[in-house]
Amino acid sequence: MYTAWPLKYKPQSLSEVVGNSLAIAVFKDWVKSWDQGVPKKRAAFLYGPPGIGKTVTVEALANDFHMEFVEKNASDYRTEDAINRFAGLASQYGSLFGGKRLVLLDELDGLTGNSDRGGVRAITEVVKNAQAPVVLISNTAYDPRFATLRKYCLLIEFKKPTTSEVFKHLMRLCQVEGIQADENAVKFIAHRSGGDIRSAVNDLQALAQGKKQLTYEDVSWLGYRDRQDTIFNVVRMALYSRTCAVAKQAVNLADIDIDMLFEWIYENVPAHFNDPRDLANAMDALSMADVYRGKIRATQDWSFMRYVIDYMTAGVAMARQYSKVGWVPFKFPTRIQSLSWSKAERAMQRNIGYKIKPKFHISAKRSLSEVLPFIRIIFKNNTQKAAEIAKWLDLNEEMVNYLAGNEEKAAAITALLAENA
Ligand SMILES: Nc1ncnc2c1ncn2[C@@H]1O[C@H](COP(=O)(O)OP(=O)(O)O)[C@@H](O)[C@H]1O
Ligand SMILES: [Mg+2]
Repeated sequence: MYTAWPLKYKPQSLSEVVGNSLAIAVFKDWVKSWDQGVPKKRAAFLYGPPGIGKTVTVEALANDFHMEFVEKNASDYRTEDAINRFAGLASQYGSLFGGKRLVLLDELDGLTGNSDRGGVRAITEVVKNAQAPVVLISNTAYDPRFATLRKYCLLIEFKKPTTSEVFKHLMRLCQVEGIQADENAVKFIAHRSGGDIRSAVNDLQALAQGKKQLTYEDVSWLGYRDRQDTIFNVVRMALYSRTCAVAKQAVNLADIDIDMLFEWIYENVPAHFNDPRDLANAMDALSMADVYRGKIRATQDWSFMRYVIDYMTAGVAMARQYSKVGWVPFKFPTRIQSLSWSKAERAMQRNIGYKIKPKFHISAKRSLSEVLPFIRIIFKNNTQKAAEIAKWLDLNEEMVNYLAGNEEKAAAITALLAENA
C-alpha cells in the first residue's frame, strides 16, 4: 500500500520534532502552566511558514502528555452551531476521568474575507473565556483580522529549520528506508526545500522510494523540475483536464519535448486512473499516440504529430470517467531517468536551442519545445537531412552526437558534413 512519507514519518513525540526547540519549550511550559490554574493567556497562537511542524508539535505534545486532544480546522467553525461546540470543548480542562484536554484550531488563515470576520470574533470570545488550553495555528499572526484575537494569545513563532537540520532528518529517513544516499544528493533536496520539511520529505520519497541508492544524478531532476514550469502541473493538466483544449495546452506549457512528455504521462497514468475502465481507455489513447509516433519515425511525415499530441493529452484526459480524484503523487518517468537526464544534457539542449533561435526567430524556450523534438526525430531517421540541418544551424560535433543518439548515426552524419564542407 502506498503511504506518503510525511505521514509515515510524522513525529509521534516532541523528541522527534526537528528544530524550533525554543518555541517548543515555551509551548510546553505554557501547557504545563495550566496545572497551576487558568493562565493569563488562555490560547497559544503558533505561527510560521507551512511544512515546518506546527501541527505535529501540538499533536506530539498531546501524545507525550497523554491529553485528550481535539483537533479542528478553523474553517469548520464558520457556523454558530460549530462555534458553540468549540466553546463547549474549551470550557473544561479536566474531564471526569482525570484526562486533560487540549483544543487545537488549525489553519486559521483558511478563514478568508469579510464573511469570516464574524468567525474570528467568535473564536476570540471563546479564547477569552476558555477553561482549557486552546491552540491556534496560522501561517501569519499579523493579519489585521487577528489584531484583537492576538491580545489574548501567547504568540509563539515557529521558524524554518536550517538546511542542515532538514538534511539530517532526510538522511535519517534514508537510513530507515535502507537507502544508501549520496550526501550531496540529500543536501540538494534539503537546500531547495527552503526549510519546508514536508515538501523535502515528499521530494525524497518521489526520488528515492524503493531504491537501494540515491545518487546526485537522481536528484538533479529536481532542478529540472523547477525549471520546467513545474512539470507536475503540466502532467496534471494532461491527466485531469475536463476539456480537450485545456489538456492540449499542456504541450505548450511543457518546456520539454513531446517524447519526454509522453514518458511522463505514460508513467503516471496507471496511478492516476484508478478505475480499470478509465485506465484501459487512457492506455488505448497512449498506444494510439505511440502508433502515430511510429508513423512519424517511419515516414517522417510530421503532420502526424498533432495526432500524437491529441491522443496523449486530450485522449488521456477524456478517458477519465469513473476514476476517483484523490491525492496521488506524480512519479518521475523511470524510463527516462535511466537515461540519466543530467545537467550536462540540459546544457546541451539549451545550447542547441540558442542555435535554433535566430534561424526560426522564436524564443529559446519555444525552440526547445517546438523545434528540437522534430530535429531530433530527423537526426535519428534521416542522415542526409540531418547533415543539411547540422550545417544550416552550425551545430558542433558534440551537438550532432547528442541529437543522433548513437555513435554510428553520428559518425554517418559527421562524414556527410565533412564531404559537403
Ligand atoms: N519539524 C519537523 N520535524 C519532523 N517532521 C516534520 C517537521 N515539520 C514537518 N514535518 C513533516 O511534515 C509533515 C507536516 O508537518 P506539519 O506539522 O503539518 O506542518 P505545518 O503545520 O507547520 O504546516 C509532518 O507530518 C512531518 O512528516
Ligand atoms: Mg499544519
